[in-house]
Amino acid sequence: ISLRNYNTFGIDVKASYFIDITGMVQLQKVLELKSYSRKFIISGGSNMLLTKDIDALVMHINLKGITVVEENEDEVIIKVMAGENWHELVLWTLERGYGGLENLSLIPGNTGTAPIQNIGAYGVELKDVFVNCSAMEIDTGELISFDKDACKFGYRDSIFKNEAKEKYIITSVSLKLTKQNHNLNTGYGAIETELKKMEVVYPTIQDISNAVIAIRQHKLPNPKEIGNSGSFFKNPVVSRKTFKRLKKNNPDIPFYEVDQEQYKIPAGWLIEQCGFKGKRFGDAGVHEKQALVLVNYGNATGEEILELAQLIHQEVDGKFKIRIQPEVNIIK
Ligand code: EPU
Repeated sequence: ISLRNYNTFGIDVKASYFIDITGMVQLQKVLELKSYSRKFIISGGSNMLLTKDIDALVMHINLKGITVVEENEDEVIIKVMAGENWHELVLWTLERGYGGLENLSLIPGNTGTAPIQNIGAYGVELKDVFVNCSAMEIDTGELISFDKDACKFGYRDSIFKNEAKEKYIITSVSLKLTKQNHNLNTGYGAIETELKKMEVVYPTIQDISNAVIAIRQHKLPNPKEIGNSGSFFKNPVVSRKTFKRLKKNNPDIPFYEVDQEQYKIPAGWLIEQCGFKGKRFGDAGVHEKQALVLVNYGNATGEEILELAQLIHQEVDGKFKIRIQPEVNIIK
């Protein structure tokens, strides 16, 4: 079957075998099947670039359900099954007045993949609300719990991209949210500007979500209309020495200070400086409003997107002597 509808880039590759996983027992049984030597896990498909047909049993993780597991006056812990769409979860929490996910509105993908890259936006990362996740070991079918420390979260990084890569299927995620005295995070410049535009002085979690939705809708392409995987590259973190060199040659360079020794440079800016913003090569292109996002205008192949990414990598390296790294998982 075609995987086109199962990856937000809309890449049309084929899977030799495909199964929709909707229950834990079924998941365990399928993992025990010895007849398929290779198994490939797909969930929301929002952070991968498929470059060729998948000769494996593709397991589409479609586990559903959200439950409150603990609560008191101030806080609530919810357990969310991996196949729940992330943004629908955010809306579910806002309807109930639970705070914590509002800055993470409109991020594509499913809840089960959120820990893998520690999704983040507008000053908040998943790790800020994360309690633990359950994951099934692919080889043994054993269910294991990973708490926050065990996940080794970093900027767009976790154990699931390193030591634990391709060893587990995350089945559910537990999050701790606030019921009152929310920790509002409005420090990010774009949010402040948007709230002013909305004439909001004392923002609620709903206002922040609305602001984030407005910013994202303006800057980022909707994967339902134009295939994409959000930021294709990570923002590079460079040393103070490198930063000084860059700043000298480019006085207007935007940056975030990570600490006194490290500076994060927006890859979107580097890419735009190389002239790629809005450029199109066949059906593969660089988004016109955010150069960090590569897009599929219709029938681009994964290889074409990858070639474009490699060209961008080369040009940025040539111009700035910085090697930007993909954020998206490239499946070769
Ligand atoms: N910029 C440019 N040209 C561009 C794009 C950006 O000059 O084409 C400059 C902007 O002017 C701004 C700076 O770069 O000064 C930062 O841009 P933006 O606020 O759009 O954020 P970003 O650093 O490009 C990161 C995340 C996004 C997240 C936003 C907001 C990464 C790799 N990306 O982008 O995450 O939504 O911050 O927090 O960290 C994603 O991971 O898929 C994603 C969209």
